[in-house]
Amino acid sequence: MTTFTINGKTVAVDLRAGTTLLDYLREHGFFSVKYGSDKGETGSDSVLVDGKSMNASLMLIHTLNGKNVETVESFAHGREVHPLQDTFIEEGAIQCGYCTPGMILAIESLARENELPSEEDVKDVLAGVYCRCTGYVKPVKAAMHYLIAKNGDTR
Ligand code: FES
Repeated sequence: MTTFTINGKTVAVDLRAGTTLLDYLREHGFFSVKYGSDKGETGSDSVLVDGKSMNASLMLIHTLNGKNVETVESFAHGREVHPLQDTFIEEGAIQCGYCTPGMILAIESLARENELPSEEDVKDVLAGVYCRCTGYVKPVKAAMHYLIAKNGDTR
């Protein structure tokens, strides 16, 4: 039995060996977490595990005992979105949206570990999330607006 927390709710699971966190999340309706590849290169399978951005497709469920998992589903409350999601909307940083949850989690992970991240830091974390639509310009701009509003000017 493996016990961990997803978006504030404790779950206990007893699943077959080899079940990944991505398998579990998709089977339980956490559709913000997406399949990109079996090797995690795309970042579309990103989740936060104990506050750090990780690839759900590379995490076996039995390794999660006692861990805290967050997905983008926990960021919005009804029609009220997280300030980072709001800046993505305001900046027009979302096109098809396939990559957007991974980008949001990568930036939030950075914001939690570094109070004064630079634009280069943002570009570094977003390099782990493939986007075929935006060219990254607007997501980087949205991230910087969010980080500056949260922490003050980091430049
Ligand atoms: S918005 Fe389409 S892949 Fe990023």
